[in-house]
Amino acid sequence: MKKVNGFPARFFWGGATAANQVEGAWQEGGKGISVSDVMCVGSHTSPRKISIDLSGDYYYPSHRGSEFFYRFKEDIALFAEMGFKMYRFSIAWTRIFPNGDEKKPNEEGLKFYDEVFKELKKYNIEPMVTISHNELPLHLAKKFNGWSSREMIDCYVKFCEVLFNRYKDYVNYWIPFNEINDLSLPLSTYLHGGIILDDMKYLGDNVDNPQMRFQALHHVFVAAAKAVELGKKLKPSFQFGAMTCHITIYPLTCNPDDIVQTQHEDFIRNCFCSDVQFRGEYPFYQIKYFENNDIELEITEEDRKILKDNPHNFYAFSYYMSVCASADTNAAQTSGNIMGGACNPYLKESEWSWQIDPKGLRYTLNKVYDRYRVPVMITENGLGATDVFFEGKIHDTYRIDYLKAHIEQMREAINDGVELIGYTPWGCIDLVSVSTGEMKKRYGFIYVDADDQGKGSFDRYRKDSFYWYKKVIETNGEDLS
Ligand code: BG6
Repeated sequence: MKKVNGFPARFFWGGATAANQVEGAWQEGGKGISVSDVMCVGSHTSPRKISIDLSGDYYYPSHRGSEFFYRFKEDIALFAEMGFKMYRFSIAWTRIFPNGDEKKPNEEGLKFYDEVFKELKKYNIEPMVTISHNELPLHLAKKFNGWSSREMIDCYVKFCEVLFNRYKDYVNYWIPFNEINDLSLPLSTYLHGGIILDDMKYLGDNVDNPQMRFQALHHVFVAAAKAVELGKKLKPSFQFGAMTCHITIYPLTCNPDDIVQTQHEDFIRNCFCSDVQFRGEYPFYQIKYFENNDIELEITEEDRKILKDNPHNFYAFSYYMSVCASADTNAAQTSGNIMGGACNPYLKESEWSWQIDPKGLRYTLNKVYDRYRVPVMITENGLGATDVFFEGKIHDTYRIDYLKAHIEQMREAINDGVELIGYTPWGCIDLVSVSTGEMKKRYGFIYVDADDQGKGSFDRYRKDSFYWYKKVIETNGEDLS
């Protein structure tokens, strides 16, 4: 029998962005205000302030983003030049329903995405649409306290219905929620949950309300399952991705206490949400977690049936880093994307202190494929780094090294037997960082001439990684040099 090694012939090489980080034009074309639009710029050391009424003399990075709204034709042409097979992006809810509870959608917003889809089709780039990526209408956050209210489900399903009907001929791949498990952590109460707590001044800096947060997450689960139900009815070939922010966790030592701690944290942080989305019910460990923490969710019989009847089709995840778990509360800690953990002494970290672990990607791919046995896509990965721009050139060898090491491990995982079907590295064009609001934390193959205060020409430049990734795609992952 012929042994096949490496990437399958129809592998989705591409890139990913989100509307609130890349589009800008925050009030163009009838767009409403989203929860992201009231978040000010911060830094690695100072958290992003949330100014709900937009008061104060601050810079709000989503207002300009990278100006994709005005330059999408140029940007998509650059993606095509690299050879993208897929582009993952989100549709800003507030362009379609500015307040979220209107009876009719905003035609101007719909037209904008018509144009984006047409442009992608021109170059045979498959779109993958994230329906909700930190873009909840602020009005709904204020009116219902976001997802803590069940009424959000109908607003979201209506939004989905409009998207599915309008774009069904363009789109096959949908992700109902970006990193659905973020809401299982306190940091995401506002941005993912749209929950406005009294003491909230900075992103993540509020007294947690786990009862409210997990009830909100339950509503999100039901909304996602309803989206699957509705979409499949309309077009059975639609594929829905359950997306997790997967922060791989290793035991710090082989002390059995660390092993047990690791298993517990991995269940709660990485497995819980996708278990619900593929198995259609709350897992035993999460039910115990709720009992132990006095959390009592309102779950109706109808909710249970919807979850059971509408599993997602593929596993999508973002992968940037790993951490360790330890039963020793004095173990040195590291922070990172949405959560931290004990420091791994074998790993280096990025400028923003995220631990870099390419081999963890192979391990994770095997783990999630074994758990769910559905096709897998890496919908985010990449290195946030400062770039030096000199005479139109950006020599980002560190980014190439990072991506190369991860792609090598993807190839290993495919050779292990994992059904990996796509790779859309994050921020394929420079965009605003979620955690800090900075522009200088860059992930792109394409440089955008703008700074943390939104100053600059916003002109685009090809980085060294642009030419490198083009060659990777051209050779279907054979040539990574
Ligand atoms: C992911 C989010 O968690 O991390 C993206 O889905 C985000 O929206 C990415 O941009 C990288 O994080 P940051 O904070 O560097 O922008």
